[in-house]
Amino acid sequence: VKSDGTRVFDLTMRAGEKEFRAGQKTPTWGFNGDYLGPTLRAKRGEKVQVKIENALGEESTVHWHGMHLPAKMDGGPHQMVAPGATWTPRWTVDQPAATLWYHPHPHGKTEKHVQRGLAGMFLLHDKKSDRLALPDKYGVDDLPVIVQDVKFDGAKFDHSRKLMSDTGFLGDRTMVNGTLDPYKEIGDELIRLRLLNASTARIYDFGFSDGREFALIGTDGGLLEKTTRMDRIGLSPGERAEIVVRMKPGEKTTLRSFPQDNYGDFWQTRFAGGDDSFDILQLRAAKSLRSSPELPATLGELEVPDESDSVRGRFFGLRTSGINGKKMEMGRVDETVTRGTAETWTVRNEHSTPHNFHIHDVQFRVLEVDGKEPPAELRGAKDTVFVPGNTTVKLVMRFDGPADPDTPYMYHCHLLYHEDLGMMGQFMVV
Ligand code: C2O
Ligand code: CU
Ligand code: CU
Repeated sequence: VKSDGTRVFDLTMRAGEKEFRAGQKTPTWGFNGDYLGPTLRAKRGEKVQVKIENALGEESTVHWHGMHLPAKMDGGPHQMVAPGATWTPRWTVDQPAATLWYHPHPHGKTEKHVQRGLAGMFLLHDKKSDRLALPDKYGVDDLPVIVQDVKFDGAKFDHSRKLMSDTGFLGDRTMVNGTLDPYKEIGDELIRLRLLNASTARIYDFGFSDGREFALIGTDGGLLEKTTRMDRIGLSPGERAEIVVRMKPGEKTTLRSFPQDNYGDFWQTRFAGGDDSFDILQLRAAKSLRSSPELPATLGELEVPDESDSVRGRFFGLRTSGINGKKMEMGRVDETVTRGTAETWTVRNEHSTPHNFHIHDVQFRVLEVDGKEPPAELRGAKDTVFVPGNTTVKLVMRFDGPADPDTPYMYHCHLLYHEDLGMMGQFMVV
């Protein structure tokens, strides 16, 4: 922390190698270390500055996924950092407590940069949520769970895409926080898991091996209004969920991803990995556990607009070949929005390939999924939403950052193979 109160972080993007399996050294990329990056934490109202050094030998960027900040600080494809150069974005945290993340965003190469290991969590805190009785001891009863699927070819990663998979790379096993076959010894009755799908194409349906329920407390943009009990939560690439699970002394349970059949049609589901199942993370409770306070029933107020606030609608038709029939072009701004206004964006997946939709800078409310009220896991603040084949979602968001007539933000499919193919557009706030 500097004398003026600015919280300063240093991140170096660099190549390394990591022994995921004994005796096998895999070439990797990471922030500061060999693989993934440190968890950054800041409070609402705080000034943040991140010094990013690019020691990769090729250009890249770092994007703050879910963060509300000026377009110039966003770390999209307009803020490239040359090899050997540094970039120092600064902003003031102005949004509720949430589980955000950071990753590179170089145009056409995001999949590759994330797959090699460039990703980390960025946790935001605020006074209101600090006062709630939620598990909040980082690494003890409040755990970051960065989920990625991987495949190895000897010591190296195999990032090739199967012929039939038109959603991108699918691995044959998963890691949590860069660890294969992970488990965690638990010492508290209630455990908060901050789930992040940091895979490039895989869609997960998380639940527990013994079918136990958990409490959903937060989505991409922060805490829900109410704690909601459920036994499954689906997350497409880029999405987050905060869940709390209760453990009994001495027991074990495994967070698992279950097969699912909702991607659009049978063939798509099959070739997008919907038949697959993975054991994600085993929780092993100690013989005696510290008692945890009951979860509060009400959590936060959503800071996302209602449909009645919206002054304008836009339509986005998704196909792998582009959004609204266009492929991303760095020099073309697709939409211009007026600062301070709220809009309703209708996003339709126009074919059967699964997609999702992510918007930079804002958190949105999901109003409808195919004309119906959204399920519980979509009733919080979101910045990324799964859009299965032939499905329409209606979103409302407010653009209240500073106007910048020179620098656009992005919206795109967060299946990174699709994003790199050009399923991305640009909007400007003026
Ligand atoms: Cu997480 Cu535009 O990305
Ligand atoms: Cu983003
Ligand atoms: Cu897509």
